[in-house]
Amino acid sequence: MQDLIQKLNAYKQEIAEFSGSGEQAAEAFRIQWLGSKGRVKEAMGEMKHVPVEQKKDAGQLLNEFKLFAESKYAELKETAGTGTADQSAPDLSLPGDAVPLGSRHPISLMRHKIISIFQRLGFAVAEGPEIEDDWHNFTALNMPAHHPARDMQDTFYVDAGENTAVDWLLRTHTSNTQIREMEKGKLPIRVICPGRVYRNETISARSHCFFHQVEGLYIDENVSFADLKQTLYFFVREMYGKDVRVRFRPSYFPFTEPSAEMDVSCFICGGKGCNICKKTGWVEILGCGMVHPNVLRNCNIDPEKYTGFAFGMGVERPAMLKYGINDIRLFSENDVRFLKQFTAAT
Ligand code: DAH
Repeated sequence: MQDLIQKLNAYKQEIAEFSGSGEQAAEAFRIQWLGSKGRVKEAMGEMKHVPVEQKKDAGQLLNEFKLFAESKYAELKETAGTGTADQSAPDLSLPGDAVPLGSRHPISLMRHKIISIFQRLGFAVAEGPEIEDDWHNFTALNMPAHHPARDMQDTFYVDAGENTAVDWLLRTHTSNTQIREMEKGKLPIRVICPGRVYRNETISARSHCFFHQVEGLYIDENVSFADLKQTLYFFVREMYGKDVRVRFRPSYFPFTEPSAEMDVSCFICGGKGCNICKKTGWVEILGCGMVHPNVLRNCNIDPEKYTGFAFGMGVERPAMLKYGINDIRLFSENDVRFLKQFTAAT
């Protein structure tokens, strides 16, 4: 009898400490305590070992124990029914976990924008190598050795060892791809050439030792400066809106004649004058011109029969203006706090 009392007390404590909640826990409790192989039944079985004169007291204790277990079960059922969260069952009403989204790099976004506008005019995309020889980066572009224009672009030369007859360098502009496209010998040519370029410049908020350009080239019979202007005018209207104005300033590039630089009316202040346009109302966006006859000749194209125009623009500056970025170094630092701000950008 003493054993039975001890056992029932231990069981009661165990029941009192049962800590599960929800439908599943209640059911588990039922099976463990009240089921056909449960502990209540097992405890009832102890009756047969109790001496006759104690059976009455033992019966009372066992009944009390059974009621205790049943009331605990009732309590568990009730709290499960009132919606206390069941830890083990999935709650289908919870909002889902957001899948972390990657984003396009702002340079890619701007590059894509520029390319897609020219693609609508029938320009194909061509790419050239970043490690280039002197011919394609300089000489063929009408910049023979010692040409002063070479000094304008501080060049990184590549040490290619002694077994090479030519100088290797990191291209200083995407104009190398013009030459490579013309050398293929298939005319007409209408391409844009996006890519990364390198110059040995001190890194600061405004300049970097590498950046991106998009080059354009159109060669055919009877291509004129009017075609150049119209093409670029279409581009800026698509890029900056219908109200934008353009102006061409005479300039000099060895590979074009005549050459020009194109400005657009400042898209920040609309031409009134602000910090971005340095109070001039105009922002310079690209260099352009008619392909120099020497360049055509260098690529075995007859300048008496064919003419063409070319242009080259940077990608960083328009991206900085569009997205309000004030330090060019941010583009290459790969800081996710910077990059993830472009998740929804177009
Ligand atoms: N290559 C020039 C630069 O990097 C940009 C440029 C100017 C490209 C005029 C051209 C052009 O094709 O016609 O500064």
